[in-house]
Amino acid sequence: MAFEITGTGRAIPSRRVTNDELAKEKEIDTSDEWIRSHTGIGARHMAEEQVAASDLALEAARKALAMIAAADAAPADAEKAVAEAALSVDAIVLATATPDFLVVPSTACIVQDKLGAKRACAIDVSAGCTGFVYGLEIAAGLLAVSDSRKRALVIGSEVLTKFTDWSDRGTCVLFGDGAGAVVLEKTSLPQQGTGKRGILRTILKADGSGAEHLVCSHGGSRNPLKAGETIAIPPHIGMNGQAVYNFAVKAITETVAEILSQEGITANDVAWIVPHQANARIIQAAARRLKIPEEKFYLNIEEYANTSAASIPIALDELNRAGKLARGDLIILMGFGGGLTYGANLIVW
Ligand code: COA
Repeated sequence: MAFEITGTGRAIPSRRVTNDELAKEKEIDTSDEWIRSHTGIGARHMAEEQVAASDLALEAARKALAMIAAADAAPADAEKAVAEAALSVDAIVLATATPDFLVVPSTACIVQDKLGAKRACAIDVSAGCTGFVYGLEIAAGLLAVSDSRKRALVIGSEVLTKFTDWSDRGTCVLFGDGAGAVVLEKTSLPQQGTGKRGILRTILKADGSGAEHLVCSHGGSRNPLKAGETIAIPPHIGMNGQAVYNFAVKAITETVAEILSQEGITANDVAWIVPHQANARIIQAAARRLKIPEEKFYLNIEEYANTSAASIPIALDELNRAGKLARGDLIILMGFGGGLTYGANLIVW
């Protein structure tokens, strides 16, 4: 039994904001030169006020389902084909750090309803920027343990610009909004050995001792907002940039080396490493340590900035739609972020 990605989609807010535009709009003491040279970021896309994580997730999910509906030679009416495909979804796993609602309901349930995925179970995954890597493994597990579950949607969706302290210039320039989704199918092809397909192996790790380095410290049960309380800045992500930088370089270096060695392959056997897009310098430093050419790492951070759990599925969809993934290609998805969490999936495309 294999777990294969058969469809991909992404949703990118239409409002594109360059570094200079952001600095002007939010009155940030920064420059395009500083942001580019320290992060590789040139722009980000920002969701409108009324757009929540589920709205972007829904759009990305519909596009991923449209891809499989077309592949199945479904009816000409595209909307009907997507609605029919939604009825065949058994599980929705949605990774986000910026859910529609605090506490309940899950963002996955909102998507399940709007999609019309009537028979799907639906859960959110909270694993920071590693959420999609965790989500794929969770979805594969849900499909594996039940004969009746065959198809899952795995989504990463974020509206990080709503949880940003615009007075913290070391952090606020880093984030953007967006969503990516994949359809994960259980197939009868082998997961190991000759003709192996889909997710070959996954490494998932956590180091909660670093929780304080990336934290939204207000609004949860540790520091709930109190009646009548006036807050200067809405709940937002605080970050120890240097600590996260060091953690991220180490996490990528160790995890990529580990998954290659577990599979008994080298980076030469891999077509693409699709890392979480946090900072181009982090990826370059890890590539140097791993002695893997930078070109093997797919980077689109210049356009989207850091979209947390959405960054890997957005990148995957870009690669897929650009025809840069060939059947049989080995791909590593590598995530790291709040928690702290990190991990990787090794996939045969
Ligand atoms: N524009 C201009 N100057 C800025 C700035 C900005 N947006 N942000 C910080 N600076 C200044 C600082 O104030 C500091 O000035 P000083 O030397 O006069 O005090 C100087 O730049 C250096 O700051 P520092 O924080 O040491 O920069 P850095 O080289 O470590 O880069 C980050 C900062 C945030 C880019 C880097 O630490 C980083 O990428 N960390 C990881 C973040 C991340 O990936 N988070 C998500 C993980 S999932």
